[in-house]
Amino acid sequence: MGQQRALFIGGTGIISTACSREAVRQGLEVTVLNRGETSHRTVPDGVESLRADVRDPAAVRAAVGDREFDVVADFLAFTPEHVQQDLDLFRGRTGQYVFISSASAYQTPPARLPVTESTPLRNPYWEYSRNKIACEDLLVREYRDRAFPMTIVRPSHTYDPTLVPFDGGWTVVERMRQGREVVVPGDGTSLWTLTHHEDFARAFVGLLCRQDALGEAFHITSHEAPTWNEIYAAMAAAAGVEPRLVHIASDAIAAADPDLGAGLLGDKSHSMVFDNSKVRQLVPGWAAQVSFRQGAREIVAWHDEDAARRAVDPRLDALFDALVEAYRPRPLR
Ligand SMILES: NC(=O)c1ccc[n+]([C@@H]2O[C@H](COP(=O)([O-])OP(=O)(O)OC[C@H]3O[C@@H](n4cnc5c(N)ncnc54)[C@H](OP(=O)(O)O)[C@@H]3O)[C@@H](O)[C@H]2O)c1
Repeated sequence: MGQQRALFIGGTGIISTACSREAVRQGLEVTVLNRGETSHRTVPDGVESLRADVRDPAAVRAAVGDREFDVVADFLAFTPEHVQQDLDLFRGRTGQYVFISSASAYQTPPARLPVTESTPLRNPYWEYSRNKIACEDLLVREYRDRAFPMTIVRPSHTYDPTLVPFDGGWTVVERMRQGREVVVPGDGTSLWTLTHHEDFARAFVGLLCRQDALGEAFHITSHEAPTWNEIYAAMAAAAGVEPRLVHIASDAIAAADPDLGAGLLGDKSHSMVFDNSKVRQLVPGWAAQVSFRQGAREIVAWHDEDAARRAVDPRLDALFDALVEAYRPRPLR
């Protein structure tokens, strides 16, 4: 059998870069399709690059030509229209189509933990998640009615060294380094699963070109679920400082900033712990290996390499000041 051919739509993103590298490492012939605008993440030598804006169907069609692939994975499909574009282009031309969904599609807040792939999908709080559910519904229908060879993969919060995994990003780390208070949602005691992109990639590539993964959905996450207090503490330790945490209820943050609020109330304020037994059945021996303490050191090191990466968002900085001022615990008068 020749080398198996994979097309990754995206391919130089937070998650997909690690998947491209791991797929090459595991012997696949990898093609990525993107605009060629992301330069800070690179794919290994030997990966073929196709250039197109994925929102321009004619350009994607021209770039792909009449090629066939053993697997096509789309990291950039967010609505049923995007998935339909893939169905129209790749039906009959790929042995497996992998849709990158999101674990935020699971019932929010979850009625039972840990979350398994049987946990219902329902997120009334976040449009992004509802759109991912609609994409999954379309693909499930296509699998049932027309045997379309799809696999659904639901990443949960997955980071690489470029991503500070809390609201406010590097602005929060800079505040910590300046000895200023930072806002932690809730009591900081809810559990949050953070997955290193290389851990994700090793399991992900194990699901590719697999007949026994067709029609199925999987999540792939770390096995550790630190509290938000621990996550802020790990980032502070990596940044070489003691953090000053101010705990503020997520609904109070939402009232001050609806965008931050949607991501909290629809996602990050609820404890999320995952059971990864299903992916382990297909990828025996896989286990997440990177602790967030280690991941935090990689994130800080990457930002410390270049001042341009340590930009502060003045709007968020001012918002955090206002929130801290309003909600810093104090005796009642
Ligand atoms: N990270 C998480 O925590 C998380 C959690 C759940 C689900 N997800 C899902 O994971 C997927 C994101 O994957 P990722 O993290 O690898 O991606 P990402 O970091 O958002 O990277 C974007 C990638 O897509 C390319 N791209 C962006 N816009 C494009 C366009 N219009 N046309 C063609 N290429 C384009 C970029 O390259 P160019 O800039 O060069 O075009 C880059 O390769 C999404 O489906 C998201 O819903 C992520």
